[in-house]
Amino acid sequence: MTEVPEYLLERSRQRRIALGVLEDDGSGEGGAAAPAAAASAEAAAAGSSQAQMIAAAKEAALLEVEPEPPADQEWVLAAQTRHRIPIWVLPVLFCLPLWAFVYVKLTEPPPEPITAINEGAATYAVRCASCHVGDGSGSDGGGVGRPLWNGEVLLTFPSLDDAFIEWIAVGSEGIGLGQPYGDPNRPGGAHISGDTGSNMPAFGEVLNDHQLYSVARYVREVIGGEDISDEAVAERDAEWEDRGGGAVTGGSGGGGH
Ligand code: HEC
Repeated sequence: MTEVPEYLLERSRQRRIALGVLEDDGSGEGGAAAPAAAASAEAAAAGSSQAQMIAAAKEAALLEVEPEPPADQEWVLAAQTRHRIPIWVLPVLFCLPLWAFVYVKLTEPPPEPITAINEGAATYAVRCASCHVGDGSGSDGGGVGRPLWNGEVLLTFPSLDDAFIEWIAVGSEGIGLGQPYGDPNRPGGAHISGDTGSNMPAFGEVLNDHQLYSVARYVREVIGGEDISDEAVAERDAEWEDRGGGAVTGGSGGGGH
């Protein structure tokens, strides 16, 4: 038989005494040596009052349960009725797209300044590339215009002068079919207007002064690979501006009358 520890037996005995189920016979603390068998016999004798003990224990347990907090406290009501999403979020959400727009606008790089070369490139792409091809290969690259690349254009027109601008402005018919144009001593002989079987259109009506000049520069400097000094570039930029290039048109900068 397993031995019940002495202190447990004593505790049980004390409880029963406290509940009035057992009479104190003085065998408590001092009589720690009381044999376990005797104690269990006593417990058995007290069996009938077990229900009573359980009820008392339950009552004691109930007393320990904390009372419910009163439900109508101010802060409880406030917590239950407050807006989960604060009201100020609405205007903030409303302004968010506007802020995003302004943010993007402010962080965008400023528009590229117009230069003679990028103006010329834009004109070439729209007006010339269909016949001379984007890289200037012209008939070498399947186009109908003469090749301008690999320095070809510089052989026909050795300098950026009025004769060159005029060719672009008046085209094959303006020069006169059958007439030589450009350098008569160019390698391979002078080019004759209309010799290719196709005609170069006239651009004097569709391009203004500085556009004719800038596309002429683009064809020479970028496509033809013309090698010129920084001073020459500066002079040409000044010439382009004299012809009206790079001017800010419309909008801001308005003066008096
Ligand atoms: C409709 C096709 C066509 C378009 C568009 C065109 N060209 Fe031409 N271009 C030609 C033809 C064809 C020739 C050869 C002329 C001839 O045989 O009479 C030529 C010749 C030239 C030449 C002389 C090349 C040489 O070595 O003889 C230059 C320079 C030139 N074009 C520049 C331009 C520029 C700049 C533009 C755009 C502003 C342009 N062309 C647009 C068809 C075109």
